Amino acid sequence: MIRLGVNIDHLATLRQARYRVPIPGVIPEPDPVSLARTCLFAGAHSITVHLREDRRHIQDDDVLRLGHECREKLNLEMAATPAMLQFALRLQPAEVCLVPENRAEVTTEGGLNAATQIQTLGPIIEKLTQSKIITSLFLDPDPRQIDAAASLQAPVIELHTGRFADANPADRPVALDQLRSAAEQAHCLKIQVNAGHGLRLSNLPELLSLPHLHTLNIGHSLVSHAINVGLEQSVRDFLLAIKKK
Ligand code: PXP
Repeated sequence: MIRLGVNIDHLATLRQARYRVPIPGVIPEPDPVSLARTCLFAGAHSITVHLREDRRHIQDDDVLRLGHECREKLNLEMAATPAMLQFALRLQPAEVCLVPENRAEVTTEGGLNAATQIQTLGPIIEKLTQSKIITSLFLDPDPRQIDAAASLQAPVIELHTGRFADANPADRPVALDQLRSAAEQAHCLKIQVNAGHGLRLSNLPELLSLPHLHTLNIGHSLVSHAINVGLEQSVRDFLLAIKKK
């Protein structure tokens, strides 16, 4: 069975839109940690958060609270920096996914260039592994990057599915073929294959034709869908609340 990891960053985006500066006496909402609980209760296999350098959505305190609640199901996405390494070693999440980070990007735009960063990534992966944290590398479906993951002895890769998800229908088969070859290559090298970025209910059927998928990490579209399926009830609840006796 393919596992579902829910990326809850955008639940925090919604909170930060109103409560970036705390309002005294008001409890900020929504609380991503209690919603992570809901995701796990609904059957999600893991929770992903990306603690970005600019702290635009998930905050340190959210991650620490998630560490207390569901460390064994927590996948921390982070840049490969000394500060984040120290944070992860203290937190001890089950998994860390190393991603490239660029302050100007709206979301993680491409995979990590592991092939040119062997010297930097090697010691980080070694320290995480020594600390029994499973390390994953977020990679484009490029054979050089998969080879680099093998040289780095990364046990897991997450294939960046963004190019497939954003491709027009004519280009999608090529993007899917690249993902298929990368998944085959990683599997032959005994590397676990996860995938994520831009996955939606509409493109999952095609993506599921890929072999060797272990976990799919899905964020934006899952959170958008939650609003779509939940908005009606929310309006009803507020109508009831303002109904005069
Ligand atoms: N996996 C990784 C490594 C990501 O950086 C992201 C986006 O933050 C996702 C999965 C989820 O992507 P999306 O929000 O498009 O579902």
